[in-house]
Formats: sequence, C-alpha cells, structure tokens
Amino acid sequence: MRTMTCIEDLRRTARRRVPRQFFEYADGGSYAEETLHANRADLERIRLRQRILVNVAGRSTKTTILGEPVALPLALAPIGLCGMQHGDGEILSCRAAQEAGIPFCLSTMSICSIEDVAGAVAKPFWFQLYVMKDRGFVRGLIERAAAAKCSALVLTVDLQVLGQRHRDIKNGLTVPPEMRIRNIIEIATKPTWALSIARGKRRTFGNLAGHVRGMQDVSSLAQWTNGQFDASLSWKDVEWIAGLWPGKLILKGIVDVEDARIAAKTGAAALVVSNHGGRQLDGAPSSISALPAIADAVGSSLEILFDSGVRSGQDVMRAVALGARACLSGRAFVYGLGAGGQAGVTRAIEIIRNELDVTMALTGVNSVKEIDRSVLVN
Ligand code: GLV
Repeated sequence: MRTMTCIEDLRRTARRRVPRQFFEYADGGSYAEETLHANRADLERIRLRQRILVNVAGRSTKTTILGEPVALPLALAPIGLCGMQHGDGEILSCRAAQEAGIPFCLSTMSICSIEDVAGAVAKPFWFQLYVMKDRGFVRGLIERAAAAKCSALVLTVDLQVLGQRHRDIKNGLTVPPEMRIRNIIEIATKPTWALSIARGKRRTFGNLAGHVRGMQDVSSLAQWTNGQFDASLSWKDVEWIAGLWPGKLILKGIVDVEDARIAAKTGAAALVVSNHGGRQLDGAPSSISALPAIADAVGSSLEILFDSGVRSGQDVMRAVALGARACLSGRAFVYGLGAGGQAGVTRAIEIIRNELDVTMALTGVNSVKEIDRSVLVN
C-alpha cells in the first residue's frame, strides 16, 4: 500500500482487481456524466492561498462532527454494494474508519446487514436510509438501526427515482453477478476478488434479505428494490422519520438554497450538500458551486456536510473553506476497498489526512477552525 500515493493510484488498482460491473457501478455517474465531471472540475478550479513563515508546528486536523471528536473533517459516505468490491466490504471499511477516528455510514443497499456490521465492529456507525414504498419495512429498518445503536440516521432525499447509469445497464449489473459468459471470464481473471467474495458473509443485499416477506431469492429481491423507491416521498415523510428516529438526523442530497431552508426547519442536526456524486440529476450544478450559498443561508442552524467529488485533502480544505463542517467521501474509499480491502481503505483515509495536514501547513493554518475563505485566492 506504501506505493499508493494518491487516490488515483487506488482507483487504477481497483479497476484491475474488481470485476468491471462493480468497479463501474461505483466509478460512474448518470446519463452523460456532465455533473459527475463538473464536481471535479469546479473543485480543481478553486485556488488555495500559499502563505509562508507562519508557525504551523502545532497544527492538527482534529475537529468534531455532530459534537463527536474526529481525527479529520471526513466521514465515509454511504455506498451501496461495498461487499461486492471486496468480501465483507462494509465491515472492513467500518473498521478502517473507526481505527482512523472518523465516522462510517452504512448504506441501506449494503451487502453486509446492519446487524452483521454492528456485530463485527467496536463502535457505533451511521446508517443511511432509503425510503421505500413499504413503510412497514422502512419503520423496521429504523428500528434495526436504533437497536444496533447507530449514532446518526442519514436520510437520502435525492433518490425518489433513479438517475439512469448507462454503464450499469450495459454491464448487466446484478447482485450477485449473473453467471453469463462475460461475467465468468471477468471473475476468472480476478481471483483475489473472487476469493474475498467467496469468504465473505453474504452475496446479496443484507438489509433486505430475510426481512421482505415472501421474497427470499435474489432476483425477486432485485425486482422488489426496483419497484420500491418511492416517487411520492415528500417533506411530510421527513417529519414521520424524524418522529421515529430517536437520535441525530442528517438529510443528504441538497443543492438548492430553498430546499436547505426547509431542511433547516425539520430539526435535522445536519444536511449534506450533495448531488449524489453526479449519479442523479445530470445537468445539476456541481456540489461545490452550491455549497457557499447554502452555508451562508443555514450554516448557523445546522451542520453543513459536503460530498460529491472529494478525492484529496486539498478538496477537503476547499469545502471546509467554503462553509462545510466536514466532507463525506465515497469513491475515494471504495477505490481503496477494491484495491486492497481494509488496508486499502485505511490507506485512502491516510492519503487524504496527510494531504490535508500538509495543505494546512502550506496555507498557514493550525486548526480546522481557522479554515475559512481567507485560505482561498479570490
Ligand atoms: C445509490 O445510492 C447509487 O447511487 O447507486
């Protein structure tokens, strides 16, 4: 892992080791991927202000997220199918995050279930919720997350319908992979991956299997999922969920100031400025371009988290400078997971932490609290 010096190295290794359908599921975006690319391009355009001869010997990347101490302003974002990037991927990623001192968020569409992860890690983690039409099932998921002592519920609010990802359709993405000739060849050429999956606890959606009545087999579970995302979801449902969830609620997927203002009145502890990593509305503004106005409008009423495009400590610096309390990172750690399991996720976090540390030094700041727009070149 020492020779992996940046997230792009992990990405290249993951691309070689993980079957194409799963690598591209994580790597890709929706439609023409304009928003996916805008997320990166707009971050890269933000220039940092080099300062010299400031004493930065005592600097620290530590801060808090939702009142909890963290080693750096970063959390691992909820990503579906981590257990298909590497066997037991969710457990390994959660362990890596906890050892590094940052939060991990488990996705509803994970392979390992809430209970699998809770039974295998030392500390509480966050749980991300999709609201399905079957509200009884949703209530059950919330109760399971509470029973597992999850420390925050992250409600995804930007996926009432799925933005089409061309690559997933072309690759025939299924969980587990269908044994078509092409997939058999892919898997045969990826023995390390195949072994890790064979040794993993599960090969289907762990939070759904066994919890959806009358649907035990994999293909009907997939059908159920496709038919279950709920287009009727509204702010009323957010109220319903806030009433059921006893802990901290985070609303994820806001890029509009008006939506942010409504979110701030729901009692949520935080919102995530996010366009779902360019996987939903193609043509939406980059997430970083939406951040400053949202931070200005509601940053004093709830914590502002940020995702979509974060691949480095410099990016974390940019987002914090523009008003984010912390970033969520999805692809960066998923590349690490595909490249090297838990050690790869650890490496991804380390890379970002070290980059942030050096970036703080070279912009002349000693604490995360000091990072504001003055570290940027206007
Ligand atoms: C689900 O959240 C996805 O983006 O695939």
